[in-house]
Amino acid sequence: MGNPQPFQPGRDFAVALDRGDPLGRFRDEFHIPRSDNGEEEIYFAGNSLGLLPKRTPKYVDEELEKWKRLAVKAHFSGENPWMPYHELLAEPMAKLVGASASASISEVVTMNSLTVNLHLMMTSFYRTTRERYRILLEDHAFPSDDYAIESQAIVHGFDPAETIVRLRPGKGKHSIETADVAQVLEREGESIALVLLPGVQYYTGQAFEIEAITRLAHGKGCVVGFDLAHAAGNLVLRLHEWNVDFAVWCTYKYLNSGPGSVGGCFVHERHGMQHDLPRLAGWWGHDKKSRFRMEPGFRPIPGAEGWQLSNPPILSLAAIRASLDVFMEAGGMEPLREKSVRLTAYLEWLLQREIGDSVEILTPADPRRRGCQLSFRVKAHSSGSGRTVFEKLEASGVTCDWREPDVIRVAPVPLYNRYEEVHRFVEILRNAL
Ligand SMILES: Cc1ncc(COP(=O)(O)O)c(C=O)c1O
Repeated sequence: MGNPQPFQPGRDFAVALDRGDPLGRFRDEFHIPRSDNGEEEIYFAGNSLGLLPKRTPKYVDEELEKWKRLAVKAHFSGENPWMPYHELLAEPMAKLVGASASASISEVVTMNSLTVNLHLMMTSFYRTTRERYRILLEDHAFPSDDYAIESQAIVHGFDPAETIVRLRPGKGKHSIETADVAQVLEREGESIALVLLPGVQYYTGQAFEIEAITRLAHGKGCVVGFDLAHAAGNLVLRLHEWNVDFAVWCTYKYLNSGPGSVGGCFVHERHGMQHDLPRLAGWWGHDKKSRFRMEPGFRPIPGAEGWQLSNPPILSLAAIRASLDVFMEAGGMEPLREKSVRLTAYLEWLLQREIGDSVEILTPADPRRRGCQLSFRVKAHSSGSGRTVFEKLEASGVTCDWREPDVIRVAPVPLYNRYEEVHRFVEILRNAL
């Protein structure tokens, strides 16, 4: 992963980087929100809600039109019938997360939402014995993961306080090292049934070493799942090759598919072929050939599709399809990640150079240990609290994100953000301070 520094401080340098950016044209694929004064915002909140691709309304309209013209018949006729519509998403989605999606079995499926999929996965993969029943989680996990795990422990009849093993960064550190994971697994691995970690930690922006952690956890006999909410569409992922057991993610952040859009789910091929795995079932996961015989006796579709419950919301899938097409046209994650590494390194470099005394960056400096997001604190000795600084940023046309108690998160996204915006952002922040 090349990082062709050195950078230069002036605005001209940023403009030159934009001019030389082979992905620069993709900004025009998106609607950029505008401030009250009519100017385009500096939108660094793609880690919360990605922007609307301009082509999305057309994709959604096509489905509305089919509903209008064909109604129920659109399930089976017309272009892209609704019955197998979700299959259209399998290949591009699989490419984005490094999964396989052959005609006979797909490791990915687009269904439900992240937390629902997490529960479905835990129903199948959180299998307990008297000796092995604990779940390894990071201490600052996204609350939905925390609640999901706590409730799973209770459903299994365990005390969550004793069941959940919480990973914390070492003293004085913000990030959890792979060595910290190894240490806990060495000490307690025999009692751990499931390791559930994020691909990218939502608060600090730290990327976990998915491959190494998976290997370590498997070495101790644990099942490994990842919450990729902040990693899908942000990092290059190779879920199949890394042997991850399962993963779940949402599509409304870096995957630009709209508020509350349908989530993604990965089940490794070796599990997808195991038809006798306990699972919560529904008719959409049933063998496609015999689904409409409406007979009792569930027979799962091989692969991740076999975990589907209901027929999916086509309008949301259409928006995901539109977004995935943009990703594929941009060449997939590799070129995007290459730009992302540089864009974020430039942001970090400018922050350190211009206001290094006033901010503390929580995100690791090593590009392999982070995605596009940087999280920082405004240091106590500088003028104004972090919250005031954040409000000034907002008033100056910057959309980023405030996380209690004191963290500002900024995520320059390679598909639609520019180097010049990074430059302007640091100037605005310096003035705000
Ligand atoms: C890391 C992480 N996990 C889980 C969730 C919950 O996602 P959902 O509301 O789609 O279930 C989010 C939502 O932002 C998240 O950031």
